[in-house]
Amino acid sequence: IPVDPFDLVIFGGTGDLARRKILPGLYRRFVAGQMPADSRIIGAARSEMDQAGYRQFVAEALREFIPDLRRAEGLSDFLGTIDYVAIDAQGDGGWAELAGRTRKDVVRAFYFSVAPALFGDLAERLHQHGITDASSRVVVEKPFGRDLATARDLNAVLARHFDETQIYRIDHYLGKETVQNLMAVRFANILFEPLWNSQFIDHVQITVAETVGVGGRGSYYDRSGAMRDMVQNHLMQLLCLIAMEPPYRFDPDAVRDEKLKVIRALDPVRPEDIVRGQYLANGQPGYLEDVENPASRTESYIALKVCISNWRWKGTPFYLRTGKRLRARTSEIAITFREPPHSIFEGEEGWKENVLVIRLQPNEGMNLRVMIKEPGPGGMRLTEVPLDMSFADALGETGADIPDAYERLIMDVIRGNQTLFMRGDEVEAAWAWADPVIEGWEARDDRPRGYDPGTSGPEDALMLLHRDGRRWREIRE
Ligand code: BG6
Repeated sequence: IPVDPFDLVIFGGTGDLARRKILPGLYRRFVAGQMPADSRIIGAARSEMDQAGYRQFVAEALREFIPDLRRAEGLSDFLGTIDYVAIDAQGDGGWAELAGRTRKDVVRAFYFSVAPALFGDLAERLHQHGITDASSRVVVEKPFGRDLATARDLNAVLARHFDETQIYRIDHYLGKETVQNLMAVRFANILFEPLWNSQFIDHVQITVAETVGVGGRGSYYDRSGAMRDMVQNHLMQLLCLIAMEPPYRFDPDAVRDEKLKVIRALDPVRPEDIVRGQYLANGQPGYLEDVENPASRTESYIALKVCISNWRWKGTPFYLRTGKRLRARTSEIAITFREPPHSIFEGEEGWKENVLVIRLQPNEGMNLRVMIKEPGPGGMRLTEVPLDMSFADALGETGADIPDAYERLIMDVIRGNQTLFMRGDEVEAAWAWADPVIEGWEARDDRPRGYDPGTSGPEDALMLLHRDGRRWREIRE
């Protein structure tokens, strides 16, 4: 279904995110017939460029980042929607022109794909030049602050000119099809929810493993580390969707209220429940070379045991881990159930717990380990079988054609649906939880352990589970 016609201004229109994600995403939605042809995408950046120059820039970005852009279907029509204004975020240059190019009678959205330090300047000038009003929307990216204090400042800066209902804070994990599927699986089936608590669930593992290093983004990454870059936002969102109470409705604030309650119920993380690591050199540069900081103590890997103090989850730990240069690129959530209360089979060799694995990427799907009788006349011996489903196989063509996170999120901005965006209080609560964890290891002068690239991270992370009589799942594609 096409969305309403819109004007989308991308500040940072010549930046990396615009080239890699925003412009390709918009093009795909255009080709899919969802973006009305009388919409406009206006790149805004410092470079002096004219409309033709930017159109060419966009065409090149699409060629680079859309591998199947073979026939360039609709490309010239799409480029017809593209415009450009050279703008000085901190001065007056370009603003009057931008005011003249944006229309008042369509949805107006402003994507702040720039350093957060510029959010205030942009909001202020948009307001001064009468480019925004109460119906405009503003989109911001992570990092949304680097701690509670800076996140509060950013919220305050935006709140000067925008109401919370106008602010779309992107966590692109929420735009992933399978992440939304977590809600469908939990709340559109009667099957899982009765078991979805500490009485029946032994523990949960959330893994986001990457094979890439931090090369190229070293200066940003070394100031963040895996905790700020991935856990405070992406893994926290996954944890919330798994742990939250059923919202009373699939409505932005109903969903976000429930997520917020989870974050507020998180226990402080004990120092012994944190393992941090840095990838070593091994034929290719290690972390310290990648960030060009031989004294760095920033983690490229982190594993944490997280506990939620509420009625549903008391006694069920959530183990979170994420890292760069690991064995495989894979993101999954594995829910391990408890033993049946009483066994009627003798011996029971072969028995294993039920495990429900939700694969977020790649090969999105679900896998449930169930126990059955081992075939044959040898009496009742148990064996495990997987109930395995790949969404692509199960759904045929529609399953194979899963839109990228950004495509979905940008269209949601135009539709005015905030369900998949983080609310200000949610971001602040996540920092309020993360801050003392980070301050704790800084005060202890903790150094990350080295790990070999292509492994599943530092050895100590294994202990985090062994100690509790559990094991991590293997990291593999
Ligand atoms: C980003 C992080 O938010 O997410 C990156 O800054 C990380 O460090 C990326 O690589 C992972 O996203 P995806 O969609 O590839 O899992």
